[in-house]
Amino acid sequence: MLEKLDEIEKKALELLAMVEDEASLEAWRIANIGRSSAVMNVFSQMGGLSKEERPLVGQKANQVKTALEKAFAERVETIKTAALAKSLANEKLDITLPGRPVRRGGLHPATIVLRRMLGILAEMGFQVYTSRDVETDEMNFQALNFPPHHPAREMQDSLYIDAGERGDNPVLLRTHTSPGQIRAMREFSAENPENPPSIRIALPGMCYRYEQITARSEVQFYQIEGLAVGENITYGDLKGTLADFARRMFGLNAKVRFRASYFPFTEPSAEMDVECFVCGGKGCPVCKNSGWLEILGSGMVHPVVLQNGGYDPRRFTGFAFGMGPQRQTMLLHRMNDIRYFWGNDVRFLNQF
Ligand code: DAH
Repeated sequence: MLEKLDEIEKKALELLAMVEDEASLEAWRIANIGRSSAVMNVFSQMGGLSKEERPLVGQKANQVKTALEKAFAERVETIKTAALAKSLANEKLDITLPGRPVRRGGLHPATIVLRRMLGILAEMGFQVYTSRDVETDEMNFQALNFPPHHPAREMQDSLYIDAGERGDNPVLLRTHTSPGQIRAMREFSAENPENPPSIRIALPGMCYRYEQITARSEVQFYQIEGLAVGENITYGDLKGTLADFARRMFGLNAKVRFRASYFPFTEPSAEMDVECFVCGGKGCPVCKNSGWLEILGSGMVHPVVLQNGGYDPRRFTGFAFGMGPQRQTMLLHRMNDIRYFWGNDVRFLNQF
């Protein structure tokens, strides 16, 4: 047995001397000092030895094991040093080379305009309020004074995500940010139902409609909703606020006009146009020769909507508006196709 141990040691050391790289080092370690190596096997065979032999063999086996471990550690050192020396000699780093430019991402054009608008509204005292994308028919239509089967619903083809479990209150993707008006009013009026606080919020978010995708319409798009509710808010406040917004957005000389319109949740309702900044009002293809560009819908909050939000319409009035940042981006940059927004073509995105 003792001779066998000498033999094991000798053979292992010979093999170790031939090891040149880290992968073979590990293979050697497993084969020669690992759990099922020859030395370790000697330990497990000790039970079969006589009483006299046992301490001698045990001691010898320990010596061999220690010797092999030590030789292994030395070999590891040698190989690592050699590898380092080799890489220092061969791999020269030219630190005078210019670095590779880091390609930085940028904000999406729709995000840039969205943020700019929210910035302007913030300066005017409108705080951001966010509301959910998945809505109920009640919030998206009913509470906003769209009666069931009212033809105004057809202005907005909805994407329902409901198989009819909820009867006449199905779940849908919001078709506009206006349901956020109800959510905000209900949240604020619940804090103090007798004396609800006045409101000035800007409500950005994605909206969804079941539409054929064309150069002019997309199934999803951003809107920013504005809502002001208080005790003495008049139509003059609406006009002043929105005209001021247009000047901050399109320049001090931006001229606006209001055209009477209809939305179920406002009365009276108006659409606001800015004078075409491409032709200065003379008429061109961008404004379709009208000299004006429509940029938002607005109106005085309908008494029924105030009531549904928990605000007593005998005491409170308010105005609201809704606009599409992407439409304004298209006008500002003379984009002729809305599909560029979600097309994810970097050649388009890189221009912003
Ligand atoms: N929700 C309307 C739409 O999506 C836009 C709108 C019009 C919002 C008038 C308003 C408003 O708050 O007062 O077409």
